[in-house]
Parts: sequence; C-alpha cells; structure tokens
Amino acid sequence: MHLILLGAPGAGKGTQGALLTERYGIVRLSTGDLLRDAVREGTALGRDAKRYMDAGELVPDEVIVGLVRDVMARVDTGVVFDGFPRTRAQAEGLTSLLEDLGRPLDAVVVVEVGDEELVRRIAGRRICPECGATYNVHDQPTRVPGVCDVCGAEPRSRPDDAEETVRRRLSVYREQTAPLIDYYRASPTAVHVIDGARPVDEVAAELAGLLDPIRA
Ligand code: AP5
Repeated sequence: MHLILLGAPGAGKGTQGALLTERYGIVRLSTGDLLRDAVREGTALGRDAKRYMDAGELVPDEVIVGLVRDVMARVDTGVVFDGFPRTRAQAEGLTSLLEDLGRPLDAVVVVEVGDEELVRRIAGRRICPECGATYNVHDQPTRVPGVCDVCGAEPRSRPDDAEETVRRRLSVYREQTAPLIDYYRASPTAVHVIDGARPVDEVAAELAGLLDPIRA
C-alpha cells in the first residue's frame, strides 16, 4: 500500500503516519525527518537545507525528489508519504518515480485542522533530540515532566516551531501544497478528506476505516 498524508504543519501527519506503520507494517517516509537527520549529521545537504527550514521555506524540489528516489530504491514494502509531495513538481516527480518502480498510489488522505488548533499544537510540541519521540505539553505530555518516556532525554521545541516561522510555514502550505488536493482529485487516485481536529485515536480509527479495505 502506498499513500500520501497531506496536511498543514501540525495537522498530525507524523503522529498518524507512525500509527499507520505499526498497523500495516509499512514504512513512513517523512522528508522533514530525513532533512532533520541530515542537519543533525552536518552533511552538505543538511547545511544547505537548514537555511530553508529555519526560514519556513521549502527545500528545492530537485533535492527533495532525489532524496525520495534514493530512499525508495531501498524500500520494498508499502510507504506512507508524510510531508511529501509539497509542490506540483514534487507530485509529478512522485508519479513518475512510482511508475518507474511499478507501484500504484492507493490513496491521498487530506488531514484538515483549523489554524488556531494548528498553532496551539505546534506551540505545545516537544521532540526528543535523542530518539525522535514526539510529545505535546497540552495533550500528550511525557509521564515525567521534561523526561522522554522512551530514552530519558529532555524533549525540546523544534527550531522551526517559533511563532514567526510557523506563520510562514502555514502560508507556504496554503500557496504551494494545498493546491495538490485538486491535482490529485484530477488523478485516478482516491482523495479522502478527514477531520484531523479530533483526538489522535479518533483520527486513527477513521483512517483505519478508510485504509483497511484498501489493504485487504
Ligand atoms: P515537516 O517536518 O514535514 O513539517 P510539517 O509538514 O510542517 O509538519 P509538522 O511536522 O510540523 O506537523 P505534523 O503534521 O507531522 O504534525 P505532528 O504529528 O508532529 O517539514 C519541516 C520543514 O522541512 C519544512 O518547513 C521544509 O522547510 C522542509 N521540508 C520537509 N519536507 C519538504 C518537502 N517535501 N519539500 C520541501 N521542503 C520540505 O503533530 C504536531 C503536534 O500536535 C505534536 O505535538 C503532536 O503530539 C500533536 N498532535 C498530533 N495529532 C494530534 C491530535 N489529533 N490532537 C491533539 N494533538 C495532536
């Protein structure tokens, strides 16, 4: 199964993507995580990407499509794409990549959440710098305040979760990524729109209702 989770920053793509990997035994391909790994490792890609990420702008399409192509060459299970594609050029790149690999795109799921809730979630997000576990001070806190449940490190805010950068990321989503909903509506792949403003388990249950029949 190959599917795209499309949604604004903070919509819960990463959270739901992680649950889908457990439910279906598929891989989550998050271009944001790949870029953050490169930044942490201090590679040339990471140094270059950091400038765009810190400003809330998109990393150039050719870099992203190359990155995804490299990962897909090593993956032989299904994939949930999280945060990719984000532009029409990336969507076209994915279409041709999947065609080359002979793999169909089964679904596009749009996770909708209003701006006020997005801003609230992003302000509350904390990520463990060691193991990548994601928390939220409002709804999904660590068991012991300031201590990662998984590895004991101290979860932190993401650098690009600063208020001004978030505003820019939301505009970039509206301008460059939201138009992909119509792009996919005009394609043979089914597009599902779900209400992502509900609690995590309710959103996950709706996703399972949509995807279990595809998986079967
Ligand atoms: P990326 O890492 O992809 O970030 P994003 O798309 O902005 O999405 P987020 O990670 O902020 O949110 P999410 O939807 O995954 O929500 P999450 O589950 O964490 O990209 C970062 C940057 O990298 C970009 O700005 C760009 O510069 C670059 N980049 C990445 N991909 C690129 C591409 N393809 N092309 C070009 N550039 C690219 O949830 C958020 C918070 O809410 C968490 O705290 C979570 O615990 C909580 N939460 C989740 N679900 C719920 C719920 N249902 N109820 C309450 N709280 C919830």
